[in-house]
Amino acid sequence: MWKDKHVTFFITGGIAIYKVIDLIRSLQKKGAKVRVAMTKEAMRFVGKATFQTISGHPVQTDLFEQVTSSPVAHVELADWTELAIVAPATANIVGKMANGIADDFVSTTLLAVSTPVFVIPAMNNHMWQNPALQRNLNLLKQDDIQVMPPDDGPLAEGYSGKGRFPDTFAVLNFIETNLLEKNEQLQGLKHKRFLITAGGTRAYIDPVRYISNRSSGKMGYAFAQVARASGAEVTLISTTNQLPVPVGVHLISVETVTEMQQAVQQNFADADILIMAAAVSDYEPVQFVDHKIKKNSKTKQFTLELKETPDILKSLTAQKKKQIVVGFAAETDDLLQNAEAKLASKGADFIIANDVSRGDIGFNVSENAVTILQRQHANITIPKMSKQMIAKKVLEILAKRFS
Ligand SMILES: Cc1cc2nc3c(=O)[nH]c(=O)nc-3n(C[C@H](O)[C@H](O)[C@H](O)COP(=O)(O)O)c2cc1C
Repeated sequence: MWKDKHVTFFITGGIAIYKVIDLIRSLQKKGAKVRVAMTKEAMRFVGKATFQTISGHPVQTDLFEQVTSSPVAHVELADWTELAIVAPATANIVGKMANGIADDFVSTTLLAVSTPVFVIPAMNNHMWQNPALQRNLNLLKQDDIQVMPPDDGPLAEGYSGKGRFPDTFAVLNFIETNLLEKNEQLQGLKHKRFLITAGGTRAYIDPVRYISNRSSGKMGYAFAQVARASGAEVTLISTTNQLPVPVGVHLISVETVTEMQQAVQQNFADADILIMAAAVSDYEPVQFVDHKIKKNSKTKQFTLELKETPDILKSLTAQKKKQIVVGFAAETDDLLQNAEAKLASKGADFIIANDVSRGDIGFNVSENAVTILQRQHANITIPKMSKQMIAKKVLEILAKRFS
């Protein structure tokens, strides 16, 4: 979604300006190319040099100043822009945008932008409640400009109210959700019920020790976010509490294979699509010791006997009616042969094969590269890209089954 996307930040004079630095960094990490324009008032809070350094581009503030080779800088920047983000958006810029006022570089460039515009306002709660501001926000919405409501909470003035700039994750979630909702290839997923598992399960040895794996849960969370953004109802069964839960997703926290199996079983009948992105332990200790096992310095060895865990995927495909079931094959050797064997033996509709022997994709990183296997269809290979983009591509294939 963000790879090589031309994103322009229009920064105005609000106290929340420092939060935009983190937002820009996060988008750059996702692959976006960022340029910045700022108002003269914004420069009273944070200087141009900061945004020039993080964006790697000159920052223009004056309409008549020549900072690039283009003689008409505002039109050049507007034409370059594929997505505009006004953040923090002051009451002043909202008023200007709503009324077509173009009296400085930021407002003039915004008037020339013809691609999606997102406005992230932040201000004092009384300014936010002011009827003139609310009238202007409604005008923006009528013009198909997306406005993110601010958060409720402590304000710079020392009291609480609605007007805070939301955190980076929430802003990204808002923008990505809006962009995905408009994606026609995902329309078939609207109101579908997703059940998604994520993370590595834990097999407890005693109350303080467990066996697990390197799965971070990022792939499952990416599926949950994209599915939810496509208008689906999503239940996420997760072993991790390290990742932010996408807005609107229902979370069920579990730890062990048995807990995950019970949670999946309880929700499977109502689901349209099950995506088993969790890395489920294949083995667990034969016996759980109910106290901490002490070190035995005489033998200097410790043998742990393991037994197979229940096969969640296979047990569910046996009960499958209308559901589409997607399994994962995380392999270090013979990736495709193992994935084909899994497709044949587990009764899943799709197997997503990923090579977890590589350090740059798969477990515990933000990117992946996968091959999608499905019955009576040729394999589809998706090259290395963000887990969110992988999720989007897989969901586009699933959406075709419903259209
Ligand atoms: C310390 C301080 C903090 C301010 N914070 C905000 C703010 O958070 N939101 C806002 O809409 N205006 C805020 N203002 C007012 C704007 O800076 C002012 O309306 C300015 O004219 C906006 O210009 P611009 O929209 O061209 O950047 C603040 C002003 C000061 C002095």
